[in-house]
Amino acid sequence: MIETRIVVRNNGPYRIEGDNIIITDEAGRPYGLAGRTVVSLCRCGTSATKPFCDGNHNRVGFQSQCEALELPPPKPKP
Ligand code: FES
Repeated sequence: MIETRIVVRNNGPYRIEGDNIIITDEAGRPYGLAGRTVVSLCRCGTSATKPFCDGNHNRVGFQSQCEALELPPPKPKP
């Protein structure tokens, strides 16, 4: 299995690293990534190129410090 990693950048985007990144819109159409193995997705909501980060988080002073945590187990499905 090829590992894909998502790094939550403090005060910035989600950085996705992987050899075969696939990002689709809601209809399942893939975004053309031009062979990139690293892309950043906007986390601040102000990018003009959503879902991709365009660096605007710096201009708007986006603040969000995130630290890894453990999620509770998923609830059983009925
Ligand atoms: S996180 Fe970079 S523009 Fe939103």
